[in-house]
Parts: sequence; structure tokens; C-alpha cells
Amino acid sequence: MKLVDKYDRVHDYLRISLTDKCNYNCIYCNPSSILGGAAKDDLLSFEELLRLIEFFATKLEFKKFRFTGGEPLVRKGIFEFLEEVGKLKRKYGFTTGLTTNGSLLKGKTALLRETAIDNLNISLDSINKDKFKSITGKDDLENLLDVIEESLTAGYSPLKVNAVVIKGINDYEIIPFVEYFKNKDINLRFIEFMPFGSNEWERNGFISYEEIKSVVERKYQLVPLASESNSVAKDFQLADYAAKISFISSISEHFCGTCNRVRVSSKGNFRLCLFAEGEHGINFKELYRQNYSDDQILELIIDAINSKWEKHPEANELAVLAENNMMTIGG
Ligand code: 5AD
Repeated sequence: MKLVDKYDRVHDYLRISLTDKCNYNCIYCNPSSILGGAAKDDLLSFEELLRLIEFFATKLEFKKFRFTGGEPLVRKGIFEFLEEVGKLKRKYGFTTGLTTNGSLLKGKTALLRETAIDNLNISLDSINKDKFKSITGKDDLENLLDVIEESLTAGYSPLKVNAVVIKGINDYEIIPFVEYFKNKDINLRFIEFMPFGSNEWERNGFISYEEIKSVVERKYQLVPLASESNSVAKDFQLADYAAKISFISSISEHFCGTCNRVRVSSKGNFRLCLFAEGEHGINFKELYRQNYSDDQILELIIDAINSKWEKHPEANELAVLAENNMMTIGG
């Protein structure tokens, strides 16, 4: 059966956070490392995660799974786990994605593509060495640029590169970004800075996608592309070049109307929205521990989806929802 909410949105896409730890310390994401990170025993184990994926693929016809974090690749044993995911993927025919900072991928991209991951998104918020370090806390730009080249060689096509644009921090790099990637098989995605309880989001750090787009268009021509269904991005071809440019307008123009996603946090909490505070009490780890059958769990999920809100609150309200942070829910 399909998982449909009361606004007739069919949910077939699960985003799974594998850990709330990260080896970067990005100013806008985990600004003061206030979160120690979950203890290993609190995380969904790999066995539990495989059961969860199989459950969503078979009982609820889910077609897409994406792994996020924290930084998913810091989790020990991750590549063995992904190999198992690859087996399920081939068995049930779903597609997989990984959102990563890329730092631990050197030498592994071909393996990743062959075994498990169809769609790769690498976060990169600056192509200036010093700025990169001041945003992430790590002097790692060269490594990442190598990993990006390697990912292209491994056949990721297009490779998605995500840049969160923050006024006064990296907005001067919009054009340099385009310049750097324009001749590559890359989908460069500019993401609006979103408010979370812990990132001191302020209106004055925010730049709307319209503004970012108009900066690009001062120098380049953007040709609109038909978006994939349920896409959160507005997609464009950079005229006369290989790269595609997208804008993700989570704040200025929400895309809740076509939302097909649900999420599971690293500790196993089921979430209906990136911005939803309540977890409906559904924790997969807890349910597995109490020997709930998949059919019983199915009923709880169907119940929960009926309470999904039509859209998330406006930015100003979101900014004060202290509960939320990107480290646990993973973008
Ligand atoms: N606003 C927008 N994007 C964010 N990310 C993390 N925090 C925020 C935020 N406040 C992005 C990361 C990465 C993805 C996992 O989420 O940069 O691309």
C-alpha cells in the first residue's frame, strides 16, 4: 500500500540520518558543538536500519532512500552497511542517495557507486581555502575538490554540489562557484539558509533564491529545465556550459505541497517534516526492542502520517523552535 496523508500527498521517500556526529563544525549547522552526539547504543543499529529500509520498501512501496547525518561516513562500518543496502536496492528496485561533506570519500567513490549509492550530493560552501576553513573548521578544500573530480570519474552524472548561501559569509562566491564548475557535469545547487534553533539565524544572514539567481544572471544565462516530480529544486541549464544550476527555496517559497518525504533520525525517531518538532512518539529502536511486528508498526505509521501538517511555519517562527537542529535530522 502507499503512504498517503490527508492532503493526498503520496510519501515514497525516506531520509535516514545515520549519525548526529560530524567531523566538520560548520558555523551555521553546529555552531558551538553544543551537541555531544548520541551514544552508539542509542543509534539504530545497521541490522535495524536494514529492517527499516526493507519495511518501507515492501510494506509502503517506498522508492527512494537517502542517507544523511551529521556526516554519515563518520559512522564505523558504514561501507559494509552500504553494501548490504545495495543488495536490498537491487532486490526491490529502489534508488539511493547520500548527502555527505565528502571529506572521507577519497579513494572510495567508485566503490560507493558500484555497490550502493545512485545519487551523490556533496556539500561545499566555499571554494576559497581560507573561507572554507573558517566555515567548516577544517583545512580541507583541496581534498574535497579532489573528491569531486573522483566522483565525476566514478560516473556520478550529474554530481550534485550543495552550497548554503549566507549573506556576509559566502555570498561573494556565487559567481566564483559558477565559474569553477561551469564546464563540469555538475549540478550546482544554491540553498537558502534555513533557521534552526541553534544556528542564530537572522533575517540579515538570509538571501532569497531570487537574489542569488539574479546575481548569477548578471553574468550568465539560465535556461529553465523541467523539474523532476517532487523536486525541491528549481533547475536551470547554464546556457553554453555543461553545468546545471539549481536553487532550493525552502524558506522564500516552500515546496510542502508536493512533499513526498518522511525522515528517521539517527536515534530512530520518525519525523514527518524537517521542521516538525513532535515525533509522534514513534521510535523504531524502541518498537524493535519491544518486539513490535512490522504490521503493528505499519498501523502506527499510517496513524502518524494523518497528522502531517500542510506546510511548515514561516521562517521567523521556525527560528525560535529550539528543538530543531540539523545535526540530528540531517537536511
Ligand atoms: N540551512 C540550509 N542548509 C543547511 N544545511 C545544514 N544546515 C543548514 C541550514 N541552516 C545543509 C548542509 C548540507 C545539508 C545536509 O544540509 O550544508 O548541504
